[in-house]
Amino acid sequence: MTKTWFITGTSSGLGRLMVEKLLARGDTVAATLRKEGSLDDLKAQYGERLWIGHLDVTDTAMIRKVIDSAFSQLGRIDVIVNNAGYGLFGAAEEVSDAQIDRQIATNLTGSIQLIRAVLPYLRAQGGGRIVQVSSEGGQTAYPNFSLYHATKWGIEGFVESVAKEVAPFGIDCLIVEPGPTETQFAVGLDHARPLACYDNTPAGEIRRMLTSGTFEVKGDAARTVDAMIATADGEKPPFRLALGSTAYASVSQVLTERLRSLEEQKEVTFSADRAS
Ligand SMILES: NC(=O)c1ccc[n+]([C@@H]2O[C@H](COP(=O)([O-])OP(=O)(O)OC[C@H]3O[C@@H](n4cnc5c(N)ncnc54)[C@H](OP(=O)(O)O)[C@@H]3O)[C@@H](O)[C@H]2O)c1
Repeated sequence: MTKTWFITGTSSGLGRLMVEKLLARGDTVAATLRKEGSLDDLKAQYGERLWIGHLDVTDTAMIRKVIDSAFSQLGRIDVIVNNAGYGLFGAAEEVSDAQIDRQIATNLTGSIQLIRAVLPYLRAQGGGRIVQVSSEGGQTAYPNFSLYHATKWGIEGFVESVAKEVAPFGIDCLIVEPGPTETQFAVGLDHARPLACYDNTPAGEIRRMLTSGTFEVKGDAARTVDAMIATADGEKPPFRLALGSTAYASVSQVLTERLRSLEEQKEVTFSADRAS
């Protein structure tokens, strides 16, 4: 049976590929973007099955307007994909206040407000699925990506809580966590002005890897999107889906370490209970 999807950030990368693949298999897609014209080729090919909306996810009023018009024009929407996002690159004291505000407004507040805007519609139609594109960086942390991590860890906490609130309405959530994947992500990075004091630190090392092109990107965008769609199609998808061997290795390592550390402190942890 065909489905209807709503996807943000579809001018390039994972979002664009997802639109292409869903249309090619016969689904209907409401695709939103900032760059007018980016999907004109697909519109010419698929006509009515592609609904295009202009949306900058940092504009909450615009989110509500686009969601209202997508549901009123398309009726039921089965899957909402919160995909729009980008990375801010720089050590915490290198990035500017304005860069921080934009990163949080896009990746965190944008995703939160989109979910808040769709929930009344999903409840009214008796259910639906929310796919939140996070990152392996929603569970791990590299130097120079602290603000990006803050948004991805933040959205994971938000979605995990909301999933429990809305399960009784037949709404479920899937958090997707790709590792480094070949899209426009590296091109779209917002770079902070470097401070020389970080040159000989892990942050400086990551910067050199990025600028010299030695930062390893193993993820294939098309295969990542195939896995996202196949999992989102499932009757009972997992709550989190790590994608790519890099994501698997890093998430596995941090979870193992976190559990080991928790167990090691068990006595101290329990000592904080009220004496009964
Ligand atoms: N590629 C990776 O290595 C990787 C790994 C883990 C997670 N992710 C996540 O995957 C998602 C998609 O990224 P991608 O890899 O496909 O990169 P991409 O090719 O750069 O695509 C990002 C998309 O987000 C859109 N976008 C950015 N800011 C926006 C805003 N304020 N409002 C609306 N749209 C906005 C961009 O639109 P414009 O063209 O208008 O800028 C573009 O369509 C992001 O959430 C990213 O954090 C990527």
